[in-house]
Amino acid sequence: MESLTPDFLADLSAWLRIPSVSALPEYHQQVLEAAAFTAHLFQKAGLENVRQIEGNGFPLVYGDWLHSPGAPTLLCYGHYDVQPAEPLELWHTPPFEPTKIGDNLYARGAADDKGLAILLIKAVEHFLAAGRPLPINVKFLFEGEEESGGDHIATYLAEHAAELKANAALICDTEMFAPGLPSICTGLRGIVYGEIHVRTGKTDLHSGVYGGNVRNAIEEAGRLIAALKDHEGRILIPGFHDQVVAPAPEELASWRTLPFDVSHYQTKEAQVFALHGDPDYGLLERVWSRPTLEFHGIRGGFVGEGAKTVIPAEATVKVSCRLVPNQDAQKTVELLASHLQAIASPGVQVEFRLLSAAPASLVDPSSPFIKVCAQAMGEAFGATTVYMRSGGSIPIVGLFQAKLGIPSVLAGFGLPDDNLHAPNEKVYLPNLAGGLRSLVRYFELLG
Ligand code: BES
Ligand code: MN
Repeated sequence: MESLTPDFLADLSAWLRIPSVSALPEYHQQVLEAAAFTAHLFQKAGLENVRQIEGNGFPLVYGDWLHSPGAPTLLCYGHYDVQPAEPLELWHTPPFEPTKIGDNLYARGAADDKGLAILLIKAVEHFLAAGRPLPINVKFLFEGEEESGGDHIATYLAEHAAELKANAALICDTEMFAPGLPSICTGLRGIVYGEIHVRTGKTDLHSGVYGGNVRNAIEEAGRLIAALKDHEGRILIPGFHDQVVAPAPEELASWRTLPFDVSHYQTKEAQVFALHGDPDYGLLERVWSRPTLEFHGIRGGFVGEGAKTVIPAEATVKVSCRLVPNQDAQKTVELLASHLQAIASPGVQVEFRLLSAAPASLVDPSSPFIKVCAQAMGEAFGATTVYMRSGGSIPIVGLFQAKLGIPSVLAGFGLPDDNLHAPNEKVYLPNLAGGLRSLVRYFELLG
């Protein structure tokens, strides 16, 4: 297998060295720096009309090459922002000093998404920088707030749909089902993310002076969230599943043919003491086609070292629901918010505040753009491409379908153990080499 050039690795490492953490205000400058570097990579690849598009939030980076009349146009999407690296003490190598260990490159963003998104850029560079005409037309649109729920790209898409016209979107921001198994993702979950605010009174109180006579906001928050699911993991919000569309029997049957090792999944990948979830559904089914309700953190009361005897008047719970096809984000929020009101104890104020929302997405694997990509990936990896879904979200995919009417080709080159969003994120370099070969071949076949 031919490997990646020093130039590829140097460009990727330079990009990874910029800590473009979009969620944290202290990295504002570095996110802007990563946008500028993205534009530089576009330019170097030979893209034209390269520019940063300012708006509400971090800039979009655009570039195109449109000189293959009659050939299809792909809208290539990626994101240059990354998740926070914390907790830093759990990293074996510094998150923003890309480090090669064996066949893996470790860094925040190595797989999500810089390491994969650069494949799109380098595939174009393979043609244009070598003086070869690109067999297709491309429009590149990268964003810097995918990881933090920003809506700059959604707003831009709604207002500039005509300029972004293409036959399909091409995205490298998903994973392979297993090492060596080229995979195209045909469905992603959506998400609503928000906060539950619980208030029991005006101010925190002395737990000796008032304990026994007042409610405790942390206790109430705990009671509320514990009441939203049963012991086996079923979500108990009335109407919550009403809009859910189950996968077709053929799709379910094809999932059953995937090489899935439950014990490896539990002990090596998830590393949990036990798997847990709605017993009425299979494991892949739960992650790919059932909605979730998860709590991400609780704020309130006293969490410092030592003891402080206080009854908290206020507690906040970070919460999200992953959505599956046909579930409406607004409807889901209404159901959750009104159920919280209905079950709140007397004298407790509960409020749900929405932070961000994105619909689920499905792509039809019979689209010629998917089929040709599957062929190219199959040739590049020497194995038959499989179709899978993913439980994660790429908010723009649903909007590409809704606003531009185009399917997204989700060519996955990450691996299940890449530690996305976690300490020691990495990318498997042979997958990047195979990914690059896949995309070059894809462009040739499409042209
Ligand atoms: N690349 C991921 C989504 C993903 C992960 C797809 C694994 C398939 C397999 C993406 O960057 C991501 O993490 N999205 C966020 C979106 C959220 C912050 C709105 C997510 O899913 O949590
Ligand atoms: Mn991500």
